[in-house]
Parts: sequence; structure tokens; C-alpha cells
Amino acid sequence: MEYGVRYGGVLWWTVVVVGLATCAVGQKPPQLFQVGGKKGWTTGVNYTEWAAQQRLYAGDWLLFKFDKHYYNVLEVNETSFEQCNDQNFITNITRGGRDVFNLTQARPYYFLSRGGYCFQGMKLAVNVEVYVPPPVAPPPSKNGVYIATGVRNTMTILLEIALVLAFRLRLY
Ligand SMILES: *[C@@H]1O[C@H](CO)[C@@H](O)[C@H](O)[C@H]1NC(C)=O
Ligand SMILES: *[C@@H]1O[C@H](CO)[C@@H](O)[C@H](O)[C@H]1NC(C)=O
Ligand SMILES: *[C@@H]1O[C@H](CO)[C@@H](O)[C@H](O)[C@H]1NC(C)=O
Ligand SMILES: *[C@@H]1O[C@H](CO)[C@@H](O)[C@H](O)[C@H]1NC(C)=O
Repeated sequence: MEYGVRYGGVLWWTVVVVGLATCAVGQKPPQLFQVGGKKGWTTGVNYTEWAAQQRLYAGDWLLFKFDKHYYNVLEVNETSFEQCNDQNFITNITRGGRDVFNLTQARPYYFLSRGGYCFQGMKLAVNVEVYVPPPVAPPPSKNGVYIATGVRNTMTILLEIALVLAFRLRLY
């Protein structure tokens, strides 16, 4: 009995914590950003200006569209970015010229093109943020019917499982 109660308590809290984490993390669908907009990845675009107009979150993607005969895309560190140094890059993103990059972490990322094109402006620094979902207010509906979101459904199901488990172990 004693064992059952304690075990049930632990389980309950585990499921509650998992439920809250599910609720708080990554409810925003990932977005794909075409670097440079319509112009893509090329010379003569001010990527500082482009980046300043974007809001990027962890899980989003960058799409580099470019002429692979001239340009490439390398992820570099901050020092290399500032110096337009394409040696000892971190990641080679270049494939066919329509290449995507997963911004998996919330941190600054730096990209540039080799062969002097960096000096002609082909360098991009972006800051990727953690997505903090806005507080969820239940949307009031005309008929007074509550419209549950996917998040709320998940939460409810998890809490129900937790309650059932805790209850059963307690009664065991
Ligand atoms: C790009 O735009 C930024 C902000 O408007 C500006 O400070 C910078 O000098 C521009 N860079 C070039 C190479 O024109
Ligand atoms: C890329 O990002 C998505 C979220 O947008 C993530 O689910 C996925 O696991 C990531 N893929 C890789 C290969 O890192
Ligand atoms: C950045 O990379 C260069 C090589 O490209 C390396 O020499 C340098 O130590 C690195 N800097 C940092 C801060 O990691
Ligand atoms: C990057 O990868 C592409 C495709 O695999 C390859 O053709 C190219 O030589 C690589 N570039 C560098 C600098 O390693």
C-alpha cells in the first residue's frame, strides 16, 4: 500500500511534468525562410538588412537558392564571418543550389560564400531565438462550444492518464 501510494505519486508528477513540457515547447510549426527573399543567395544583396527583417526560431529552416557554378554556402564561426574566411568552416551546406539548413538551436549562426564573394556581400548572420508561445486564452465561440486546441487535447489526455494511473496504484 505504502509502496503503491509513493509510486503513484512519482508517476503522477512525471506525467504532469512531461505534459507541461509538451505544452510549453515547440508548438509553432517550423517555417522555411528563403535567404535574401526573391533575389536569393547572390552578390549585391544586403543580408544584414534581410536578417533584420526576419524573426527566426529554433526549428525553422533557411533556404539558400543560388547558382552553384559560382557560389556556395558554408556555416562558419563569428571570427571567420567577420574576416570572410572560408577555411575550416563548420558545415558545408552546398548541394544543388536549392539547399536547406535546419536551424536546430537557439543561437547565432553565420554563413558565407567562398571565393571572395563574401567580400561582395555574401555573408549572413542570423540570431535564432527560443520560441515562447503566447499565453493560451481559450477562444470563446459563438455557440458557447469550447474549441480545444491540439495542445490542450494532449495536455488533457496526459493528465487523464496520470490521474487514472495514480488512482489505480493508490487503490492497489
Ligand atoms: C547593409 O545595411 C546595413 C543596415 O542598413 C548597413 O549598416 C550596412 O552598411 C549595409 N551594408 C552594405 C555593404 O551596404
Ligand atoms: C529539423 O528541424 C525539425 C523542426 O523544424 C526537427 O523536427 C528535425 O528533427 C530537424 N532535423 C534534423 C535533421 O536535425
Ligand atoms: C573560428 O574558426 C577559425 C578557423 O576558420 C579558427 O581559427 C578560430 O579559432 C575559430 N574561432 C573561434 C572563436 O572558435
Ligand atoms: C561542399 O559540398 C559540395 C557537395 O557535396 C561539394 O561539391 C563541394 O566541393 C563542397 N565544398 C567544400 C568547400 O568543401
